[in-house]
Amino acid sequence: MLNLKSYPAINWNKVNNELTKVFWDQQWKQMWLPEDVAVSKDIKQWKSFEYQNTYKKVFGGLTLLDTLQTNIGMNEIAKFNPDLQEKAVLTLFGAFEAVHAKSYSYIFTTLCNNDEIEEVFDWVEKNEYLQYKANRIADIYTSIKEDDDESLWKAMFASVMLESFLFYSGFFYPLYLGGQGTLRNSSEVISLILRDESIHGVAVGYFAQNVFNKFEVEKQNELKVWGYELLLDLYQNEVKYTDDIYAETGLSPDVKAYVRYNANKALMNLGLDTMFPEEEINPIVMNGIRNEGSTFDFFSQKGSTYTIARVEAINDSTFDYSNLK
Ligand SMILES: [Fe+2]
Ligand SMILES: [Fe+2]
Repeated sequence: MLNLKSYPAINWNKVNNELTKVFWDQQWKQMWLPEDVAVSKDIKQWKSFEYQNTYKKVFGGLTLLDTLQTNIGMNEIAKFNPDLQEKAVLTLFGAFEAVHAKSYSYIFTTLCNNDEIEEVFDWVEKNEYLQYKANRIADIYTSIKEDDDESLWKAMFASVMLESFLFYSGFFYPLYLGGQGTLRNSSEVISLILRDESIHGVAVGYFAQNVFNKFEVEKQNELKVWGYELLLDLYQNEVKYTDDIYAETGLSPDVKAYVRYNANKALMNLGLDTMFPEEEINPIVMNGIRNEGSTFDFFSQKGSTYTIARVEAINDSTFDYSNLK
């Protein structure tokens, strides 16, 4: 043969890790599209909704994070991850990130006029706290080097920070409102996004743990320090972001508690010790989606306005690694 590089073909008959296939299957099982949720039913409530400004900013911020995750995050991590099956899963996740990013536009189109939408997208580009987190995460994503586990692990760590932690300052508001019967259909879209992010955080966290376990203890300790410092820096920024966008609602303390709760969950996904003490989370947010009054049952189906195949419940045992090793 001439001096050619030998490209291997992906072979799903020889699965390197059963969990990779579990992640693949679960993501496809919960396939959804925003247009199937009847957001227009929220229009009436929206017209008299008091905190439209906060709501629009929340969705603007979420749009930026999902754009980043589509265009940079999943692409870069998939590109440099040498495992072909993990690459396929990450590419699939990337496609869902694009659905998430588009779904906020669908809500904007349904509830707002063009001038209002333009205003939100301008605000996104100018808000320093939002751009700070986008910059911090994107810089790590774009610093992965070929055949370098350290920079790959850091990018996976950053991805889990984004998906299991930074999204939640935004998710809080639609969940909080939806749990009380306000703008419920928009909150149903968020529930569907959140369900995807749960898999992404667990999957990328698990891939990261496999990379991490290859390092010597000394390197592991160095990376842990790097990780906790990054988390703290992102948290401090998130506190300012939360104060900024939630100012008019008085909800900042509740949002911050929810953010800390999810920062701990992000660390758990990465196999690391939690950082913030346990505290009570606003019960409306924790239970709202499962309340009888909600149109969407997070754990069993795709919502009353969304009737296709039932999806298996995600719970603590869904990704129980011990059965699969
Ligand atoms: Fe997403
Ligand atoms: Fe995601």
